[in-house]
Amino acid sequence: MHLLLIHCCTEFKGRCVIINPFVYQLEDISKSYEGKKVLSVDKLDIEKGKIYGIIGPSGAGKSTLLRILNFLEPPSHGNLFFNGMTVTKAGKHVLDMRRKMTMVFQRPILFDTSVYNNVKYGLAARGYAKKDITKLTSNALDEVGLTEFTNRNARSLSGGEAQRIALARAMVLKPEVILLDEPTSNLDPANVAIVEKITKRLHEKQGTTVIMVTHNIFQAQRIAEEILFFFKGKLIERGSTDKIFNNPQDDRTGAFINGEMIY
Ligand SMILES: Nc1ncnc2c1ncn2[C@@H]1O[C@H](COP(=O)(O)OP(=O)(O)OP(=O)(O)O)[C@@H](O)[C@H]1O
Ligand SMILES: [Mg+2]
Repeated sequence: MHLLLIHCCTEFKGRCVIINPFVYQLEDISKSYEGKKVLSVDKLDIEKGKIYGIIGPSGAGKSTLLRILNFLEPPSHGNLFFNGMTVTKAGKHVLDMRRKMTMVFQRPILFDTSVYNNVKYGLAARGYAKKDITKLTSNALDEVGLTEFTNRNARSLSGGEAQRIALARAMVLKPEVILLDEPTSNLDPANVAIVEKITKRLHEKQGTTVIMVTHNIFQAQRIAEEILFFFKGKLIERGSTDKIFNNPQDDRTGAFINGEMIY
């Protein structure tokens, strides 16, 4: 295991305490499929506790990046650090790291059992005591406003309700990072607003780092503190949401924000 020594020092009780402000650090990361490079990022630091919006046209490599950040796929090349530690294919520390993150997809995959069982699943797998499981699961269902669905079969839920259950299942584990890949693209406006509210609350209450891929640039503007704009596998521009929307530095970012086709 290697540590990336880009840390900053903060004062605590008169002593200098080393902290790492970044949850992810990417160095010269690329991903190729069948010899074709679909993602190539020279350098990218993701700060802890922020909400990021990842935008860009179809095929830009957004989902590929999320899969790498979730360790679902290894990069073809380069170094990925999580909380300052290298991520390699094997090793117990990688399993420990994975437990600190969770991913929510466009279409949630729910088990064919009750809503309650779906939400408690991760806690049970991690060996929590029964009374803690009951309390945490009920709290999470309350957070997403679906307490009355506790005993319903999860497969009988509407798309919006199912996505809220997926969020409850994620938040119950108190992840350090939540990765969302177009979580609202199948939902009606009312459920879009609910999912955004839940995500923001999760970030505010638990300090969770949120990384959301979205095709809806207005959603990125509403929810994100920082925007990453990808195009053809490259990180073209990053910056505060205000800067990206009001003063983009790259013509392609400006065009994309304005809804124009870019090539
Ligand atoms: N398993 C795979 N095998 C081969 N090519 C792949 C694979 N996964 C992704 N790709 C290709 O990599 C490129 C980037 O795909 P990716 O899914 O990351 O794009 P995206 O930005 O998420 O697009 P979208 O907005 O349409 O979801 C695309 O050209 C895609 O066809
Ligand atoms: Mg995608």
